[in-house]
Amino acid sequence: MKKTTKFKEMLHSGTTNYFMEAHNAVAGKIVEEAAFDGLWGSSLTISASMGARDNNEISWSQVLDVVEHITAATSIPMLLDADTGYGNFNNIRIIAKKMEMIGIAAVSIEDKVFPKTNSFINGEKQPLASIEEFCGKIRAVKDAQQDPDFCMIARLESFITNHGLGEALKRAEAYYNAGADALFVHSKKSTAEDIVAFMKEWKDTCPVIITPTAYYTTPPEVFEDLGISIVIWANQMMRASIYHMQEIAKRIHDEKSCVGVQENIVDVKEIFRLQDVAEFLEAEKKYLP
Ligand code: SPV
Ligand code: MG
Repeated sequence: MKKTTKFKEMLHSGTTNYFMEAHNAVAGKIVEEAAFDGLWGSSLTISASMGARDNNEISWSQVLDVVEHITAATSIPMLLDADTGYGNFNNIRIIAKKMEMIGIAAVSIEDKVFPKTNSFINGEKQPLASIEEFCGKIRAVKDAQQDPDFCMIARLESFITNHGLGEALKRAEAYYNAGADALFVHSKKSTAEDIVAFMKEWKDTCPVIITPTAYYTTPPEVFEDLGISIVIWANQMMRASIYHMQEIAKRIHDEKSCVGVQENIVDVKEIFRLQDVAEFLEAEKKYLP
């Protein structure tokens, strides 16, 4: 089944699907092997992996260069974070078409302004986009898409910017009517109260996606009972790598030896396995004289 079709089916499956962030192809493969339903292409972690901040310092084409390696190496669908769309309706409709070409299943854009700042940095000070302008972006992507199953996700930043439930619902209605395939409701609270309040009013009008970075202690059953379509773990692969790389780098430096960390790092053979070196060796037998 096409990745776009798989993604669309997940949105409407009536069950909760779990996505994990990947910022490079090896992370993507590890996420797939861990049996996640899909991948989140995170602006935060892709920019971090390039030594940049999550402020549109990395161009959209640089993001797609990274993501192309991830989609080529994996078979689960990717939902790609396209920030605020890298400009106006014209930019995002052109970029979304390129995303389709490199195997991305769905794009998410958030209702703030370019250049954006990560939602967890002074979120309350960040301006929201005008509803009309944002709806134009949604309509432009839906009109431009080639594959009917490619999905357009509209991300609500009303809770992040302290505009509250009323604003979130007003915008949700407008984005849904503009053609969004699903809404992505973001919250910075340490409990799921924004999400619970939103779902109580929104019910199952259209699929809803969330990312419990701040309210990570909420049990998964809560999301499942609320009817959330996709739960995204948005940055844990990057946080895991930073944690382990810091620890291992310090130990090897201080001990001037790798002996002490052998148990805590994978064998070089594991790199070869993730690269599928076995396939290369077979191909060599077949094609080399
Ligand atoms: C990302 O992972 O880039 C996101 C989610 O957009 S957040 O960092 O919470 O804004
Ligand atoms: Mg982002």
